[in-house]
Amino acid sequence: EAADKGQYRHYMLKEIHEQPAVVQRTLEGRLGQQQVLSSAFGAEADALFKQIKAVQIIACGTSYHAGMVARYWLEDLAKLPCQVEVASEYRYRPVVVQDSTLFITISQSGETADTLAALRMAKELNYLASLTICNVGTSSLVRESDLALLTNAGPEIGVASTKAFTTQLVGLQLLTLALAQTRGTLSAARVAELVAGLRQLPNKLEEALAMDTVVEQVSQRFAEKHHTLFLGRGTQYPVAMEGALKLKEISYIHAEAYPAGELKHGPLALVDSDMPVVTVAPNNELVEKLKSNLQEVRARGGELIVFADKQAGLHDEEGCSVIAMPHIDDILAPILYTVPLQLLSYHVAVLKGTDVDQPRNLAKSVTVE
Ligand code: G6P
Repeated sequence: EAADKGQYRHYMLKEIHEQPAVVQRTLEGRLGQQQVLSSAFGAEADALFKQIKAVQIIACGTSYHAGMVARYWLEDLAKLPCQVEVASEYRYRPVVVQDSTLFITISQSGETADTLAALRMAKELNYLASLTICNVGTSSLVRESDLALLTNAGPEIGVASTKAFTTQLVGLQLLTLALAQTRGTLSAARVAELVAGLRQLPNKLEEALAMDTVVEQVSQRFAEKHHTLFLGRGTQYPVAMEGALKLKEISYIHAEAYPAGELKHGPLALVDSDMPVVTVAPNNELVEKLKSNLQEVRARGGELIVFADKQAGLHDEEGCSVIAMPHIDDILAPILYTVPLQLLSYHVAVLKGTDVDQPRNLAKSVTVE
């Protein structure tokens, strides 16, 4: 059944559309009335969570981007210092482990060679414990970690990861809230608000999927381009990184992500009519700053495409197209804003006629170095 594309032309499109259902599944059995059930992370989780003083996250590819989002969440909501690093770097350098640090791996397959090697190395160091956020229950990462949270996204066939990423984010938000509860860093009211927000997420994701036609139209403006920039700030910076990764993976268009504030420190020099700039979830203030930055290159044809909250009051203007997003709590926004970026790269790839599900040179699971 999982190997059936159903009504969809590609696995990737099918998996994008599965997101409301699989996010629902990731949440199932893990929420109480107004709180996250820390038992979702195992019977010993609560006692362990009380001792954590810092977090180290390790992953590769798309899973690394999920970790980047989690860093903003863990520091903001659970007040835990957090470092995130790609496994292939971490495993080859001497590291300093802070007292009472939780070691977290994030992986769709649970078999990525570098991530597994990093976990094995970490077990020789003085980490407090290891936890994996993983999609495959029988995988090496799950077997070898002290604690595991399964993302329950079901088999992902498309090489470009989609539903695995959004369910990882949901798992990481559950972890952040569980830690915030234990540590008392959020009010019960705020936890209840975010829990309610998580419950509404499948519906919000449906709304984002309904933007497909609009996004498909926008994709036509990318098919002939050779370079693109993706910008975001805060948790939306890793969303921009993931958007850029999706576009390069399946459409072979060069895409780079930058934290929005860095535009003027270099990449602005590249912006011309061949380089559209995609911006995710900016508040008004950020868009105003970007517009004034881009003013300088407007004469050279610079074009800004903005995904923004429909309540932000932004409108299209010369050289700047605004695509309205459903309103959502800022904390949960990265999960939602990922969807139109997935659709964008999908449609660009279809227009370019590339092999969407099997991009050249890439593998679904990199089990050798
Ligand atoms: C490969 C896949 C990516 C994935 C990465 C990490 O590069 O093509 O989609 O994000 O490996 O894989 P993992 O299974 O550890 O999440």
